[in-house]
Amino acid sequence: MSEFFTLDFAYARNLEGQKANQNNFYGSIRAKESKESLEAQRLLEGRKGAGNDALGWLDLASDTTQENLNNINNAAKIIQKTEALAIIGIGGSYLGAKAVISALQGPFETSTCPIYFLGYNIDASYHKGLIDILSRKRYAINIISKSGTTIEVALAFRFLWQDLKSRFSSEELRDLVFVTTDAKKGKLRQFIQKHQLRNFIIPKDIGGRYSVLSPVGLLPIASAGLSITKVLKGACEMREKLRSTDFNSNPALQYAAYRKTAYRLGKKIEIFCTYQQNLFHLCEWWKQLFGESEGKNHASIFPAIVNFTTDLHSMGQWIQEGERNIFETVLDVESVAELIIPDLEDNNDGLNYLSGKSLHYVNRSATEASLMAHKEGGVPCLRIRIPKLDEETIGALLYFFEYSCAISAYMFKVNPFDQPGVEAYKGKMSKILT
Ligand code: PA5
Repeated sequence: MSEFFTLDFAYARNLEGQKANQNNFYGSIRAKESKESLEAQRLLEGRKGAGNDALGWLDLASDTTQENLNNINNAAKIIQKTEALAIIGIGGSYLGAKAVISALQGPFETSTCPIYFLGYNIDASYHKGLIDILSRKRYAINIISKSGTTIEVALAFRFLWQDLKSRFSSEELRDLVFVTTDAKKGKLRQFIQKHQLRNFIIPKDIGGRYSVLSPVGLLPIASAGLSITKVLKGACEMREKLRSTDFNSNPALQYAAYRKTAYRLGKKIEIFCTYQQNLFHLCEWWKQLFGESEGKNHASIFPAIVNFTTDLHSMGQWIQEGERNIFETVLDVESVAELIIPDLEDNNDGLNYLSGKSLHYVNRSATEASLMAHKEGGVPCLRIRIPKLDEETIGALLYFFEYSCAISAYMFKVNPFDQPGVEAYKGKMSKILT
């Protein structure tokens, strides 16, 4: 199996002042927590833990049939013939797709039609600006909502549906509006039937933040011209690796045990960092995954994200010298597109010593420098080394974090798959509005 990434504990050592040795990952994971992670794995794999009716994600990649993939790819081809794609969703219904598309295509261009996201806020200026752009185009909509009742999503859809309906016939709308929702429940299901719309099913046993490898993420990813077969292949390979009950060869157990060790030693905030602008949304996805899965029972790690080197010039101060209750996890991509620094004749910035080197070399030097500085400042840093980013690696990373998160939440003795706190907000908002 290809090595999609490795966990490098070199800057995480001495979390507890322990001496480095191979078995305790340089003093960063205690025996107690490694044992707990294995117990949590037994709960997960034995389907005996809390929320065991929401484990559809566990073998989703290998369970996805070629027929399902063909349906998604065919819909993506229809979408690609339009002038833009508007993806409407919030939380787990849009973050995964956004994470994958921006990780692999960046913020500027997609290889197909432009993709816009809406319905993930209720900002009138944002929506007005986007509706103005879209209403001059022949665009497609992919509305994604498991419950079919989320107000942000329903409102954004209202505007776009009204616009498309005023310009296209019912028959044309069938090639423009794609709905991803529950097989039976929710208002969208009735809507699909009424207007005979193309639709994709979110399996009953998969919650929003665990749904990126279902049609929720796959249709937008395929529409962006990326290979969903490869994304699922990476996830399948990672699934096989994480079956291992050998702590030393299972990175998900190691990551979960490391986090719990850090927490017990007073490190209650995990700062998740990227030095690649394109990975910012992967960090956002990670934040939702861990925040919504673990944030229960008044005792859990607060997942925070920072974007380096940008935030080294602001939050870098806090990380270096603020309260010592943080630990850092760094996504370190080893190879990216080359951009060679030019030689300037007058060398007016004095940087000709870098000419001929790649910009990524400078970025990775910044990574190394801040890892050293933060460790010296008392912040344990785990580095996730990623040789290169492609569809398979992204699939593997997504699955790795999903699995680690489930293990970690079980170690915190909470149900990783419910979100009573989010429901609390939804319920209160609906009362106020009605
Ligand atoms: O992870 C979750 O369950 C949430 O973030 C949901 O995805 C989010 O609230 C959107 O819900 P829905 O898909 O029902 O519109």
